[in-house]
Amino acid sequence: MCGIVGIIGKENAADILLQGLEKLEYRGYDSAGIYVTDGQGENHLIKSQGRIADLQKKITGELTGTIGIGHTRWATHGRPSERNAHPHTSENGRFTLVHNGVIENFEEIKQEFLQNNSLGGETDTEIVVHLIAHFSKTAENTKTAFKQALKVIKGSYAFALIDNQEPEIIYVAKNKSPLLIGLGEGFNVICSDAMAMLQETNHFVEIADGELVIVEKENIQIEDQKGNLIFRESYEAQLDLNDIEKGTYPYYMSKEIDEQPSVMRRILEQYTDEQDQIHVEASVVAEAAECDRIYIIACGTSYHAGWAGKRLLEDLAGTPVEVHLSSEFSYNMPLLSEKPLFLFLSQSGETADSRQVLVKVNALGYPSLTLTNVPGSTLSREAKHTLLLHAGPEIAVASTKAYTAQIAVLAVLAAAVGAKKQNPAASVFDLTAELSLTAAAMETIVDEKMMISQLVESFLSDTRNAFYIGRGMDYFVSMEAALKLKEISYIQAEGFAAGELKHGTIALIEEGTPVIGIITEEATAAHTRGNLKEVESRGAKTLRIVSESLAGKQDQLIIPTVHPLLTPLVSVVPTQLIAYFATLHRGYDVDKPRNLAKSVTVE
Ligand code: M6R
Repeated sequence: MCGIVGIIGKENAADILLQGLEKLEYRGYDSAGIYVTDGQGENHLIKSQGRIADLQKKITGELTGTIGIGHTRWATHGRPSERNAHPHTSENGRFTLVHNGVIENFEEIKQEFLQNNSLGGETDTEIVVHLIAHFSKTAENTKTAFKQALKVIKGSYAFALIDNQEPEIIYVAKNKSPLLIGLGEGFNVICSDAMAMLQETNHFVEIADGELVIVEKENIQIEDQKGNLIFRESYEAQLDLNDIEKGTYPYYMSKEIDEQPSVMRRILEQYTDEQDQIHVEASVVAEAAECDRIYIIACGTSYHAGWAGKRLLEDLAGTPVEVHLSSEFSYNMPLLSEKPLFLFLSQSGETADSRQVLVKVNALGYPSLTLTNVPGSTLSREAKHTLLLHAGPEIAVASTKAYTAQIAVLAVLAAAVGAKKQNPAASVFDLTAELSLTAAAMETIVDEKMMISQLVESFLSDTRNAFYIGRGMDYFVSMEAALKLKEISYIQAEGFAAGELKHGTIALIEEGTPVIGIITEEATAAHTRGNLKEVESRGAKTLRIVSESLAGKQDQLIIPTVHPLLTPLVSVVPTQLIAYFATLHRGYDVDKPRNLAKSVTVE
């Protein structure tokens, strides 16, 4: 949520900032801005409402400067506008700042320190730059003023600050929001995500919460809250520029849907040993085998993957599992079992709602495991154990391959724990073989995407609402399918337990309401078909996504049959394609839906 970039020591600072912001646009895209200075008094501040492309259009001449900062925004405080876009400057123009996060006590700061300032915008960030300017009047230097401000500020932040009187430094600080320093030869960069600066360097240094960093072109200096100098090794980012390009695809979402079969195969490669047996780090398996209950904590799509994970872990590992929404868990914490294990599911590894649960879990001393796609992400660093998804960067805001990767890695974990516990169900389940078949099944569906496009064109044209229904695993997929459809096509969609419709929601069915039924489980197929008949009798038009082994002539979307524990991996693919094509047919931006951002770093 919000992306930050900065550069010091390169001639074409503005170009580098703009390229970096384009790569970070997935983090927010309602307004953007850059500030560039040559340190000799030529300063440029350019801001724009809208996308990076809109910002680029405003830049007519050459922007000379070797130091600069940039920002792409997802509005929290203050509507999207040029005025509220970052960077923000102090009244005298000396300080310029970008921020990712939320300042919780900005009203109190305004009352206590900034009564005499004229504050034109509506953002919490503006308060910070004025506060630094306020302290600089009495502080011995900018670092001290910045530190004084950090002591007062409550909330989450990643800051980058330029003082025009010291144009050879970018001051950086972070708490809860992500920020990295990239190391170059004769220059250094900062960024919210390594992919933004991969063109410049692939060596990065992490910053811990509470640290302040002085970034110069040849040097960086990290200080902890007490002022102690910290030395930290850099690491090499395991990212390939090709992975973060769209290639020939019109949208990242389309590319990421297509990548799912190869992600399944990659997961198998990563989690099997030389004898092709499932292999997971022993300490992780031991921890999961010893616990008496697993609490899955997640948001959005990851939460939906958690439900399929519950079934896998309970069946294969024989361990009871509860699935919780991160944003609710801390405030409605259930009575915990005696030996819990907390399992955090998060594509980005940065989701603030999940992180606040992890902070509590750590404080209570319980073990934790993060399943994430991003090595080195906050949830990965702060949990006791990590398992990686190996899905490759997921850039479209609508999550697709991370969902299936999460379920596949949960299957791997469940199989490994089941084997360790000698659970009979695990001994007769050959995950390596079943997941390979599943990958092939996913491929079959992806290959038939044009048929789905045609189907969607008539089935979802003009509708304002739609339902997905199913039972068991099919219900879990229905929830995810509905989220996908609503977040990008803006069709109000609900994923419903098929049996529950008649207890109230069926009242919403009218002539022509689209209802999509998912049927992959033999035990529930007849009942779900019955529920589809009930809505048809009330005017609904229905579409059935059915496993081949259960399909009849009247079913429109037949998908290959796979092992019952892995059906979500296959049945979700047509629903992803339905959402994709419904959005395309309506003419919306598939990858950047309104009001959203990829990485949700505010609570
Ligand atoms: O990075 P995370 O998996 O923690 O993100 C959780 C949700 O914000 C995310 O899944 C969101 O619901 C997606 N937009 C869904 O497509």
